[in-house]
Amino acid sequence: MRDTEPVWRGTIMQSAMAPPELTGLEQWTLFDFESVFAAFRDDEVFGSEMYNNTIGLVFGPTILGMHGKQHHDHRSLIANAFRQSALAQWEPEVIDPICDQLVDEIKDDGQADLVKAVTFEFPTRVTAALLGLPQEDLDLFRRLSFDLVSITEDIEAGLNASVELGTYFQELVDQRRRAMTDDIIGDLVAAEIDGEKLTDEAIISFLRLLLPAGLETTYRSSGNLLYHLLDHPDQLRELQEDRSLIPAAIEEGLRYETPLVSVPRNTTRDVEVHGVTIPEGAQVNLCIGSANRDEKRWPDADKFDFHRPRRAHVSFAGGIHSCLGMHLARVETSAMLNSLFDRVTDLELVTDEDTKIVGMPFRSPTHLPVTFRPAATGSS
Ligand code: HEM
Repeated sequence: MRDTEPVWRGTIMQSAMAPPELTGLEQWTLFDFESVFAAFRDDEVFGSEMYNNTIGLVFGPTILGMHGKQHHDHRSLIANAFRQSALAQWEPEVIDPICDQLVDEIKDDGQADLVKAVTFEFPTRVTAALLGLPQEDLDLFRRLSFDLVSITEDIEAGLNASVELGTYFQELVDQRRRAMTDDIIGDLVAAEIDGEKLTDEAIISFLRLLLPAGLETTYRSSGNLLYHLLDHPDQLRELQEDRSLIPAAIEEGLRYETPLVSVPRNTTRDVEVHGVTIPEGAQVNLCIGSANRDEKRWPDADKFDFHRPRRAHVSFAGGIHSCLGMHLARVETSAMLNSLFDRVTDLELVTDEDTKIVGMPFRSPTHLPVTFRPAATGSS
């Protein structure tokens, strides 16, 4: 499609983020890097209001569907909760210990399913800790998170989880209105826009959005990265021996196998892309998965190789809605790899016909059975 019809009238999938039958909009898809990147940056023409009629129905109004001043104001508040100084504190105090503990639990077992034991669990525990959830609520939070992010497979369970999470988060917000705490929910309760506090609805919608936006993407992208490292044992070994390569491996994993294949936009006027006119009021699906494999930007784009010269990918989108949690996701993934490499060695994938990367638009392995040995010099 990149070669023949980079601007295509049609959709590559029933987008779970914005199902065509729900938006009722004419469907278009962009496939090449240049046009996907340009569309992300042109939020005047490629708006995102249709989110309000799709995921907004489940989560409530979120910053994904906002634009202009409203988006800027809400994003600034939330960005403050995810500021670099907070991240610098979370890394040693919250993220590293969680990843270390998870790998400690399996390191002597010789085998594990890394999706179940590590990749789903670490962003769940990190998110719970950053939100300031009580330890005893972790099982409940894990179940509700899992149901909510599985909404494309089981709509009823997903909707129930959304309602239950709303009630649960409301209690936590109420507690913080009575006595402030030092966590993300506390930050949001204290935040003000033009002297006005955020409404409970705005806070709770954002907290719900954090599960698919922050937890699901991170668990899927780290599973994808591990899968491709296990599938390229030379690169896995090299990475384990030289940790300075971890940032490059994370970016190549994100480029090569993005956890979110496509995101939607709606055109606010007629627009011409590569000589093709897309009419006003169309849904344009920006195919990140294809843009990231554009051979005009990355020679040999279908090869997983973390030594390739680094060029920015679009897995974190771009423009005003570019991912707010990208630094956190990178820190979490790096911590997970370091904990694993410090504690186990000779990691090998046990392949069977189910060990593969699946899913649209969210994508990752459903399980990653591996064998390993405890590392001789574990840091635990
Ligand atoms: C590897 C992991 C991640 C990937 C690939 C990813 C990807 C994305 C993408 C593609 C968007 C844009 C969606 C759109 O415009 O339609 C986005 C937005 C967003 N992400 Fe992430 N994300 C990741 C991790 C996180 C984390 C860890 C958090 C927070 C805890 C987070 C919070 C957000 C938020 C709040 C937005 C909305 C920003 C806005 O509308 O201004 N993400 N992310």
